[in-house]
Amino acid sequence: MHDALQKEIALYEKRTPESAQAHKKAEKRIPLGVASNYRAYDPYPLFVAEGRGSKIRDVDGNEYIDYNLCFGALMAGHGHPAVVKATKWALDNGSTFGMPHGMEAELAEEICARYPVEMVRFGSSGTEATMHACRIARAATGRDKLLRFEGCYHGLHDSALVSVKPKEEDFGDIHAPNSVPGGQGVIKAVLDNVTVATFNDLPSVEHRFKQFPGQIAAIILEPIMMNVGICMPQPGFLEGLREICTKDGALLIFDEVKTGAKLAWGGASDYFGVKPDMITLAKSIGGGLPLAAFGASRAVMDLITQHKVFHGGTYNTNRVVMAAGLATFREVLTRDNYAHVDKLGRKLVEGYRTIVNKAGLQAYVAHAGVNGALMLYPQEIRNYRDWIKIDVDLWRQFWFGMVNRGVLAMPYWWDEQWTISVQHTEADIDKHLAVFEEVAPGLAKTQQERGLKYVGAAGH
Ligand SMILES: Cc1ncc(COP(=O)(O)O)c(C=O)c1O
Repeated sequence: MHDALQKEIALYEKRTPESAQAHKKAEKRIPLGVASNYRAYDPYPLFVAEGRGSKIRDVDGNEYIDYNLCFGALMAGHGHPAVVKATKWALDNGSTFGMPHGMEAELAEEICARYPVEMVRFGSSGTEATMHACRIARAATGRDKLLRFEGCYHGLHDSALVSVKPKEEDFGDIHAPNSVPGGQGVIKAVLDNVTVATFNDLPSVEHRFKQFPGQIAAIILEPIMMNVGICMPQPGFLEGLREICTKDGALLIFDEVKTGAKLAWGGASDYFGVKPDMITLAKSIGGGLPLAAFGASRAVMDLITQHKVFHGGTYNTNRVVMAAGLATFREVLTRDNYAHVDKLGRKLVEGYRTIVNKAGLQAYVAHAGVNGALMLYPQEIRNYRDWIKIDVDLWRQFWFGMVNRGVLAMPYWWDEQWTISVQHTEADIDKHLAVFEEVAPGLAKTQQERGLKYVGAAGH
């Protein structure tokens, strides 16, 4: 570990002894001491005491401007008044019944008004939404295989846990990547039924359709690959996928768990003007509560109506979450608020770009809606294999450097991005930029000393 990073980590440890203690206690009974692997990092994660608006406070009393926002699930910010009011009402009046109530149809209308779908069903996580979407696509086409892209993330069910963060030795040909299980326990038969292509590489997709004629049920993808920082679809890529699916009779699934609320009012399908057959939503649509949805045309969703595909869930549409969802769609994800976060996002991105140039850092700044990322690469990445060529310790110097100065610039992990909430202010952006200005020259110095190193970033 280089000196500058060592110093930042020592400072982190000095500032956060209560988090260290809390982590030690949790490790005794909880693997890694956290409830989701993504929350674990060395030397230990920050433990949170409270969150309000754009800020959180850790158990040591340190305050941070929060651009992690629960991995992008909180475009509403912490404790948004409309979400709090609605959820309190739901708690006071019966939180869950396992029976229908009026809010479901209301929220379904909101979703169908914004996204290119005619019917929806609800769940509690993005994993659930993509799992059901994949099953429905298989049922709708009578085909078993799915096509996905190396490096995209779609949650934790077996079909999703293929080639998420494969290691270089397992890659295979870039035009025909291997199907690599994301850990042990993924059923081998699933690997045979999930074929992999390379993002932004239409020939690799065409190759798979030739290899498996009439066998691919759907292409599933993040329209912007956002589990490798931010990797934009190159012009014509999404349109090309649309064409291939239409020609072959496969369905196109946009996994809009990250882009659905945060990219724009109508999500990625509206932003790029490409209409998928199915979409999945989660993260910020619930104002921070566990709300997910999947939707498609009436013809596809009727597979559920006709009892051909099964869908259920005890906690689906519990009223606390639905109240939060309705408040979020009506009072958080409004056109005025999109204008507000867009303005802040541009200011942050432009500020980062100026500072990167001034410091002489070899990096670029990518952004998509309220999300953005400092990409520590000399040129724009196009796919997962470009992304793994990162100096991880340089990124860690950035992250700890920002945290030590009161800015949680993004979730820990160099495959993530920042999120700006509707409760962030110009002052929050100014502070973020002031801190980055302090940190950036050290990053440039480290980069000059170490050279543009390939370190390899696979795995969490
Ligand atoms: C694009 C995408 N799909 C699916 C998921 C899974 O969502 P969840 O963590 O709610 O299960 C995520 C989570 O980050 C995601 O980014």
